[in-house]
Amino acid sequence: MTTRTRLTLLRLAPLVPVLLAVQLPLDVLSGAPGALAELHRRAPDVFGFAALATLVAGYAVTPLVTATGARWAVILRRDYGLWTCGFAGTDLLLAAALDPAGWTVAVAGKAGVAAGTLAALMLVPLGLTSNRVAMRVLGRDWKRLHRLVLPVFALVAVHLVLVGSEAVAVVFVVAVTLLRIARVRSVARHLAAWRRLPAGVQR
Ligand code: HEM
Repeated sequence: MTTRTRLTLLRLAPLVPVLLAVQLPLDVLSGAPGALAELHRRAPDVFGFAALATLVAGYAVTPLVTATGARWAVILRRDYGLWTCGFAGTDLLLAAALDPAGWTVAVAGKAGVAAGTLAALMLVPLGLTSNRVAMRVLGRDWKRLHRLVLPVFALVAVHLVLVGSEAVAVVFVVAVTLLRIARVRSVARHLAAWRRLPAGVQR
């Protein structure tokens, strides 16, 4: 498989949950009985898992590029970040539109949903500034702004513990912690040095 094909497939991968979920809004549009309730019931899981997967995948790009030297994959960092923003935003909009009890009541009454809401809102400035113009305009502040991803991780972890399963929360926290460690400059240097060893010497 050529690098270009590999990159295209990786860029398109987040479409999988969209395609899997496309029947839900189609049923709503065609007026199928119970379709709205079904969309409301399934949306948090479908878009939540999609947001979670792209969030972790986006954070994994830099360490993987460091470890493999696959510079062609760097674009995925922005791609997956924007997908996360889109999935979390859709999750939030659907919850706001479909919650029968009234969304503000639902958020005020449940810390887990409030944590997910805050995480989704914090992703908005990150998504809006994920382009070259914003990088140029913000300069050093761009990096500072994008450190918001760390509190987003914390809020998502709280969200998962309170509304999802603890197992998913634990896997998420372990994955993000390992990726954070791999990004520490001295560890990243070791990863890069390991990659440069001649093939026969690689562990
Ligand atoms: C970055 C943002 C978000 C991420 C990564 C995320 C992730 C997830 C995941 C992975 C689950 C399934 C957990 C499991 O089954 O173990 C979930 C469930 C849930 N999420 Fe989120 N979510 C986010 C934002 C939101 C928002 C904005 C709302 C609503 C305002 C929300 C409401 C819910 C609810 C109600 C559930 C439980 C669904 C059920 O009981 O089946 N989430 N979320």
